[in-house]
Amino acid sequence: MQYAFSDRIRALKPSAIREILKATQDPNAISFAAGSPASEAFPADAMRGFADEILRDMPAAALTYGVTEGYTPLREAVMRRMQEKYATGSADDDILIVTGGQQGIELLSKCVLNEGDTVISEAPSFIGALNAFRSYAANIVGVPVEDDGMDLDALECALSENPNTKFIYVIPTFQNPSGRVTSLAKRRAILDLAERYDVLILEDNPYFELRYSGEAVPTIKSLDTKGRVVYCGSFSKILSPGIRIGYVIAGRELITKMTVAKQVSDVHTNLVFQMVAYKMMTEFDLDAHITWLCDLYRGKRDAMTRAIGAALPGTSFVEPEGGLFLWLKLPDRIAGAEFARACAEKGVMCVPGATFLTDELAPCPYVRLNFSTPSIAQIEKGIEIMGGVARGFGIQ
Ligand SMILES: Cc1ncc(COP(=O)(O)O)c(C=O)c1O
Repeated sequence: MQYAFSDRIRALKPSAIREILKATQDPNAISFAAGSPASEAFPADAMRGFADEILRDMPAAALTYGVTEGYTPLREAVMRRMQEKYATGSADDDILIVTGGQQGIELLSKCVLNEGDTVISEAPSFIGALNAFRSYAANIVGVPVEDDGMDLDALECALSENPNTKFIYVIPTFQNPSGRVTSLAKRRAILDLAERYDVLILEDNPYFELRYSGEAVPTIKSLDTKGRVVYCGSFSKILSPGIRIGYVIAGRELITKMTVAKQVSDVHTNLVFQMVAYKMMTEFDLDAHITWLCDLYRGKRDAMTRAIGAALPGTSFVEPEGGLFLWLKLPDRIAGAEFARACAEKGVMCVPGATFLTDELAPCPYVRLNFSTPSIAQIEKGIEIMGGVARGFGIQ
């Protein structure tokens, strides 16, 4: 039959990254296309032990319905950790456990966006968020990302030209895909502009604890005294994306509405894994695990930057101080998509930069390289192969 899809969903395309990952069936292919933690980084033994305990000691509580807001001990533990360690979240805020940070982004969109409302986003930005905004028929306005965060003049211009702006979407720390960190001065300036134009900020911060060098920068939420920042966090990059546990910290009234919106979406987030996540926070040394992750990923990042230095002259990048990605700049005349396609033909996968643009048709001489999932040997071999592809493009 002919299916009649809604206007909202008809315009949505499958994520190019998911499509690339689906194509990566060749066991010999080297993938720099993922956005996940290393497979060796999952604390599977600890999680299995806690899941066993939960199902043995409290099966009725774990296997029945839970409340939409989330498992209370987990909500309290996350709020306490974010407040005590990162001054993020105040007495006026509340917390909602969500099915991955992605759901937090989607729920905020559902709660505040009417068709045609504007969302101002960094360009490039996280495709999952851009698609969430698109699915609510938002007008997405991209603001270029500089080495220290959004171009503030362009942001102010976007705010003044779009009086129907509902929120500014920012990934301030180890941005996906650019790896950039928004400086403290720019975090303050973005908050000031949000005040001046009376819009919300969606601070999406799933990578911030994966820092391998440089100094930590306070969250935008920690600078917010007026409930203007909606903070979205996740366990995906520090524990496991498969457990689908994230959280939103925001003003009470917003959280109440997002809770109703979540009820409609999935009733509540998987309770067994909320309980496992709680035990991982309270009976497992999460901070030591994060330190171990940072050591692992620092080694991989360094291997990638070294290999690029040797094999890819004529390209450039800003060394990422954390996170999972390196944003590789090719000469202006080369489209990232063509380069990525040529690399894929040689068995090396990466994501074309244009995938992350608010305007996917704009020229984009970048590719995104993930360094967390490949081994150091694969990083070295994959970058060497990319070097050969680059020479074929006349990049010297
Ligand atoms: C910037 C950013 N935000 C949010 C997410 C969503 O993560 P999750 O839904 O797994 O918590 C991702 C995942 O890659 C991301 O890169």
